Amino acid sequence: MLNSESSLSAIPAADLNQAIWPKSALRNIAGALEIAGVDCRDLVAEYQSPVYLLDEGDARTRARLFREAYETAGASIVYYAAKAFLATAIARWVTEEGLGIDVASGGELAVALRAGVPGHRIVMHGNNKAMAEIEMALAAGVGRIVIDSFDEIVRVADAATRAGIVQQVLVRVNVGVEAHTHEFIATAHEDQKFGLSVASGDAAEAIRRIVKLPSLFFAGLHSHIGSQIFDASGFDEAARRVAAFTRSLRDDQGVVVREFNLGGGMGIAYVEGDDPLEVAAMAQQICSVVRTECELAGIELPELAFEPGRAIIGPAGVSIYEVGTVKPIELDSGVIRTYVSVDGGMSDNIRTALYSADYSVVLASRVSSAEPMLTRVVGKHCESGDIVVRDAWLPSDIAPGDLLAVAATGAYCRSMSSNYNYLPRPAVISAHDGVTSVVLRRETMDDLLALDPGPDVLAP
Ligand code: LLP
Repeated sequence: MLNSESSLSAIPAADLNQAIWPKSALRNIAGALEIAGVDCRDLVAEYQSPVYLLDEGDARTRARLFREAYETAGASIVYYAAKAFLATAIARWVTEEGLGIDVASGGELAVALRAGVPGHRIVMHGNNKAMAEIEMALAAGVGRIVIDSFDEIVRVADAATRAGIVQQVLVRVNVGVEAHTHEFIATAHEDQKFGLSVASGDAAEAIRRIVKLPSLFFAGLHSHIGSQIFDASGFDEAARRVAAFTRSLRDDQGVVVREFNLGGGMGIAYVEGDDPLEVAAMAQQICSVVRTECELAGIELPELAFEPGRAIIGPAGVSIYEVGTVKPIELDSGVIRTYVSVDGGMSDNIRTALYSADYSVVLASRVSSAEPMLTRVVGKHCESGDIVVRDAWLPSDIAPGDLLAVAATGAYCRSMSSNYNYLPRPAVISAHDGVTSVVLRRETMDDLLALDPGPDVLAP
């Protein structure tokens, strides 16, 4: 390591809130951000900027914490939601920590299989699975396929008949609960593309059809109510409705629901003031409500499954960028906002542009005692909405060549990245005890040109 400074001589870092940054994040004696023993300046020297850095120990600890907390609370299995971010290394980490994997496409399934995840530890999602994806899932022996529409019942049943197997399926139910952070909205119908509505009778009808098909085995219900959820109230309402529906299935159709998969959505802290419920407390609360609701409904408690994604990989990851330009702009109010342009942007983190997401950012390559100034950290794309961090206080001596780190970018950043403006996607590097490994290498110009067959004929 070029700049290696002993972590033992680290200085306390007031700007690295432990609730937001990876657990190992600190400032070494040079004042540089160090994660899992890796100095961000060394990281950039070796892998270029921008780069995503994942703290392997942090991700594994969170995976283990989730599994233990939910199992202790009564769940049978915790699946890692691959959409948050997947590569074979991640699949290996989470399976070694005892989790299964939730995949939402043939591509995610291919990565999980390549990593050696056994089919029976995989649950397959998607509201419009292609026949090729269904066949791939059946060939892989996935434990559960989650049925999301009437069309799909026939498709999966036919494919299973052709494959000569009986496939266990869950039905994704739409219970009319939509949750986000502290709020949830409960309605009779939810106006969205996922699942089959309980209120309209579609979910009951789907199950009526499934149980008649010899190539399908109805294993249970799936409900996912939202994302970045900070408390259990939305889950409580969903559990109440799922339990009531389960009872009606028993009473009306004589059907037994063996499993409730209550999805993911557990929130994380991105900025000061974000206060998600602690993992074990959330697990206990959700599972005890499910138990109570099942008792009240007079039904046996089904096996419980969950699918967290963001909460496992999000806080373990940071993005490192290099500052290219610094441009103060005087606003109409007279306030100066300084635009700090970095060498990435909406192609490696679309969440700010897409969801107005908030992030925490720090000067990573050094400490500064300069007065803080109001900045907007922006990318290098040809679009004014290309914002990484909308409002950030950064030292006023910030200059080209400085490195910035953005926290909690492990989830839904690389997985939602693009090549807009033909930018190569950054590498994803994991760090553990001062040693780095390539999770995904940086794209090259050759990668970018590889899909283009080139001009037919070059003019003489
Ligand atoms: N299970 C199902 C069926 C899901 O649809 C999702 C997320 C999860 C599990 C995992 O949710 P998590 O624990 O990661 O919140 N791109 C958005 C998030 C979309 C989540 C979609 N489904 C974002 O960047 O905030």
